[in-house]
Parts: sequence; C-alpha cells; structure tokens
Amino acid sequence: MKVDVLLGLQWGDEGKGKIVDVLTPKYNLIARFQGGPNAGHTLVFDGIKHVLHTIPSGIFRPDTMNVIGNGVVIDPVIFRKEIESIEKLGIDVSKCLVISKKAHLILPSHRLLDAASEAAKGKEKIGSTLKGIGPTYMDKTGRNGLRVGDISSPDFMHKYTNLVGKHKQLLAFYDYAYHLEQLEFEWFESIEFLKKIPQIDSDYYLNDALSKGKAILAEGAQGSLLDIDFGTYPFVTSSNTTCAGACTGLGIAPNKIGNVIGIFKAYCTRVGSGPFPTELEDETGVAMRKVGNEFGSTTGRARRCGWLDLPALKYAIMISGVTELVMMKADVLSQFDKIKICTAYKIGDTITDAFPYDYQAQGAEPVYEQLNGWNQDLTGIVHEEDFPEALKTYINYIEQAVNVPVSIVSVGPNRNQTIIRKNS
Ligand code: GDP
Ligand code: IMO
Ligand code: MG
Repeated sequence: MKVDVLLGLQWGDEGKGKIVDVLTPKYNLIARFQGGPNAGHTLVFDGIKHVLHTIPSGIFRPDTMNVIGNGVVIDPVIFRKEIESIEKLGIDVSKCLVISKKAHLILPSHRLLDAASEAAKGKEKIGSTLKGIGPTYMDKTGRNGLRVGDISSPDFMHKYTNLVGKHKQLLAFYDYAYHLEQLEFEWFESIEFLKKIPQIDSDYYLNDALSKGKAILAEGAQGSLLDIDFGTYPFVTSSNTTCAGACTGLGIAPNKIGNVIGIFKAYCTRVGSGPFPTELEDETGVAMRKVGNEFGSTTGRARRCGWLDLPALKYAIMISGVTELVMMKADVLSQFDKIKICTAYKIGDTITDAFPYDYQAQGAEPVYEQLNGWNQDLTGIVHEEDFPEALKTYINYIEQAVNVPVSIVSVGPNRNQTIIRKNS
C-alpha cells in the first residue's frame, strides 16, 4: 500500500476539509502532516458546519483512525476546545485520535512572539493568523522546542521555564507588553487534558499500518503557495505544505507516496498579505467574496478574491507531483457571464508562464483568456452529465493546460454536493 496525499494548490482554504471528509470512507487512517491551528478546515453535513484546526478531517467518520503527525504544531488550549466540541457529538476522541510524540507544542509565549513580530513589521506584516506558528517552527529548527513526548518527562517544567525565559528576552527586545500568567494557567490545564489522547511513535505506527495493508490519506493544511520554500516568500507560513511535507511530517518514505490529490478553487483566494496577481479589487471580487462566503474559517478575516491563476497552479502541480485534481466552488462562478483565466504573466516585455521569484518586485501582470460563463445554478447537480456545456469547457480547458485530470468537482459546501467524475 501507499499513502495518498491531499493538499491545497493555492493560498489555502481550497476546501481540503470537505474533500478529506468525502474521501475518508475509502481510507483506514487520516493523518495531518504539518501546520497547526492556523488551519481552519470546514465540513458541512446533516445541516451542521464543523471547523477543525488541528484534528484531521476524518474524525466524524466511524472506523477511521486519525493521526496528528510529527510535522504538526499543537496549541493544547485550542486542541482541547476542539476535542470538547467533538465529544459533545458523542464521539469518543480518545479512541479514534492519536498524536505523535514528536509533534511540537505551541507555548503561550510563542503566540505573544507572533503578535510582537507582526506588530513590529507594521505595514510589512505577513498577516499571520497569530496562532504562534512561526515562532514555534523557529524553536523547532533552532532546536529549542518542546515536544508532546516531553510532557511526561520529569524535567518538563525545567525545559518549559528555560524556553519561556528565552522568549521573555525576545519580548523585551520587541518592547511588547503582555500578561502571561492567565495564559499559562489555561495552557497547563490543557496540557493535563492532552494526556487523555494517546501519544505514539507515529512514524512506526503509520509504516506498520502500511505494511498491514491499511489505506492512509495524508491531509495537508494551508496551500502550496504558502509553502516555506516554494511559496510567495516571505508571505508564507512556516512549514512545507507541498507533498514533501507529507514525507517529513509523517515519516513516510518518498517511494511510499501514492496518489497526490491537488485541490483548487475554480478561482483564487488569499487571506493575509502578499502578492496576488489576479486579485480583483472591484465589484467582481466583492461578488465572489459574497457568494463564496469568503471569510476566514480561523480568523473571520475577509479573503481577497480573484480569477484562477494557471501558471501558479501548474507550478504547485509540478512541485508536488499532483496526479489528480479536485475543483472546488464551481457554483460560485455561476453568477458571471464571462470568466477569466490567467494563462501567463507579462513581466516587462516578456510573456512567461513561469512562477516568478518575486511577483511584486518583478511587476508580474496577469495575461487573461476569457471563457463563457454558464449562468446556471449548479448546487443541485448530482451527475456530471448534467453539467452545463460552458462548465465542461472550463474544466477541459484547465485539464489541457495543466495536463492532469480533474476527478472531483464540488458544487456546494455540503458533503453531498460533490461530483466524482467518471474518468477518475
Ligand atoms: P480548507 O481550509 O481548505 O479546508 O477550506 P476552508 O474550510 O477554510 O474554506 C472553504 C470554504 O468553502 C468553507 O466555508 C466550505 O464550507 C466552503 N466550501 C467548500 N466547498 C464548497 C463548494 O463547492 N461551494 C461552496 N459554495 N462552498 C464550498
Ligand atoms: P487552511 O489549512 C489560508 C496564511 C495567513 C498568513 C500566512 C502566515 O485553512 O487552508 P501563519 O499563521 O501561518 O503564520 O500565517 O499564511 N494562512 C492561511 N491562509 N488558509 C490557511 O490554512 C492558512 N494558514 C495560514 O493568513 O497570510
Ligand atoms: Mg481553511
């Protein structure tokens, strides 16, 4: 068996949570491999909306094991709230969720540092979700971090105090005012709570499961254009959101990766700062935001909206070796007579479809192709045959351009508003 990977190909919020939930019945285990509570993965079924931050999106399906891998960073306070809200639905989370001992912990002082760093950047800020992600990964790579497995170590308090001491020095450098006591109280309470969830050697656990023939889906967070190496640096997150992140974030060898399922919206959104060449700062963008309900699942911030960017999509497909595509939110484009797709960038006198080193500095302008809209409600469609011709043309156009098949089309937020295409 191999591990399939599902990951976002844009700037996050593509609809990963929904599709992982839809695909979960095909798998025995769902494993998150990077990111932390900066993620907000939305699932809608039985008339209820659920937003997950750290917990894999397989949690609502029976007989599925959910694994939080070593590449994830965990805020015990947020994690506890998530678990409590899931337990209210009668799910015994301690039986279907395990955490890697090697996953790193987000401390309250990491969140303060995130806020202090963003405040110091002023207009240049990243637009972080302020969940402490950057500082926690900095401590991980700086070899100062605390891991889930440290909780039960006798010198846990000593390690914690040392690290917070370092953070206090940094906060003094930023001249940032804060009150740590209440935050720490809540954090230590949540650390006790966290002990209820089995802590495992997730690398062995997953490889053993593979050798026993179990089907595993790795669930990405954020999107490829927010990848620390390949995204629109420095306006990125602090982990590898691309396929390689599934190897390092779970302990899965590259030759054990199977299908790579890349998910994208039929248009583009971005929340936070950073370049976005196809952004629409006009009434078309406002209409996309309104119909697409484009407000952050984690922070509630309005998402910036724009047309589909094919060069960026091709780049993300290349970096992750995407084998099949899932197109989300086709229904949101039903309102437009004409739909634009960015096919290349104009940089000076050059037309290129290469993803630029620095969009902003290089002054990349999108070059558009215009296609007919379908002007038809898609939200009740259940068979691919009933797609309007213009939608079929739109999908074909994308498939031809990127040379990867679109196997699933989503036409609404609900679990059942999902069309699995016959070619898949
Ligand atoms: P994720 O972070 O990739 O899991 O995506 P989010 O949950 O942050 O954002 C996706 C949003 O779009 C959520 O509000 C979903 O309920 C919603 N959604 C998902 N698929 C569709 C779709 O096909 N059409 C519409 N209109 N909304 C969708
Ligand atoms: P999901 O998994 C969209 C963005 C933030 C900011 C940048 C850095 O729901 O798709 P961070 O908090 O990581 O330091 O923020 O990345 N960002 C996301 N945007 N969806 C996400 O996750 C995101 N996680 C982080 O807005 O621009
Ligand atoms: Mg999201």
